[in-house]
Amino acid sequence: MVRSIISALAMVVVLSLTGCGGHADSSSGLVGIALPTSSSDRWVVEGKSMVAEFKRLGYDSDLQYGENDIEAQIAQIEKMIDQDAKLLVIGSIDGSKLTEVLAKAAQRKIPVIAYDRLIRDTPNVDYYATFDNYMVGVLQASFIESRLGLQAGKGPFTIELFAGSPDDNNAYFFFDGAMAILRPYLESGRLVVRSGETAVKRVTTMRWDGEIAKTRMTGLLAAHYRGTRLDAVLSPYDGISRGIISALQFAGYGTPARRLPIVTGQDAEPASVKQIISGTQAETVFKDTRLLAQAAASMGDSMIRGQKPTINDTLSYDNGTKIVPAYLLAPVSVDQSNYRQILVDSGYYSAGDLGI
Ligand code: GAL
Repeated sequence: MVRSIISALAMVVVLSLTGCGGHADSSSGLVGIALPTSSSDRWVVEGKSMVAEFKRLGYDSDLQYGENDIEAQIAQIEKMIDQDAKLLVIGSIDGSKLTEVLAKAAQRKIPVIAYDRLIRDTPNVDYYATFDNYMVGVLQASFIESRLGLQAGKGPFTIELFAGSPDDNNAYFFFDGAMAILRPYLESGRLVVRSGETAVKRVTTMRWDGEIAKTRMTGLLAAHYRGTRLDAVLSPYDGISRGIISALQFAGYGTPARRLPIVTGQDAEPASVKQIISGTQAETVFKDTRLLAQAAASMGDSMIRGQKPTINDTLSYDNGTKIVPAYLLAPVSVDQSNYRQILVDSGYYSAGDLGI
């Protein structure tokens, strides 16, 4: 009953985001969709969802993956401009490297939506479709806080901090949200970072690369945790979490006598959800990318038709040139207790996807 009310509400939200029904003509023009990489499941799923959603609304799409090569992504966007795209939806690789190419888009009056990641240092980005990125960090850190019993005064515990890619604006929002929860415990000594690496610049992970995180974790364990247990690791993204966990396992964690630290994550990638089910990774933050793809398509359709898209944030995302009006969706913390309800019952994954 409760679930049917929730899904009825969800339908209302989806319908109001997408407008009721598609447009009759099958070719209202071309939409350029430039995403950062196909090496992470989420972008592949979202690319497909967006193409389908734009098709439903009457548009053709040119979907391209930059494969984490900044120049390649710029060339892809240039080609979309040359093809007279009616709209660009861009999940950037490096959010600060698109200033020139977007000046070209502006000359041709092509509207631009920053998708998931903010595009910085340009006036030529119209809207931003994303999740509440600060809340992602709050959820990750709150999970650590509650699992360790910090509010109840337990501790001291050891923790190490990881952040995302330094060229992705989201990395700072995730980290700031997490630090809002963790900082008081670091200051009171209930949480101790033995490496001393607490400034975001010291803990970033270029291109969100799990191998880089694994190397850093291995070094931290060797330098600071010989003979001392590590209790928690703040990790911003599942690919990074898996790198961290494999370094921990290599160093001897993951046995009944030496349990793994609490490791957080983000994106609910199947490989990490499987680890949550088996008790290896503790938590991830799920972002329902189906809804983000729908929101972006609906915003784009409104813009092409000269209407104002639905937004719900006009304050948070200063791109260095202007505040970009945004539509923010809510992230959800997922762990062993709720993964089935949030990920499987919602139809996001099949039980088979998760090996259950
Ligand atoms: C971020 C995104 C995260 C994660 C990460 C690595 O920009 O918000 O959800 O996907 O990139 O791809």
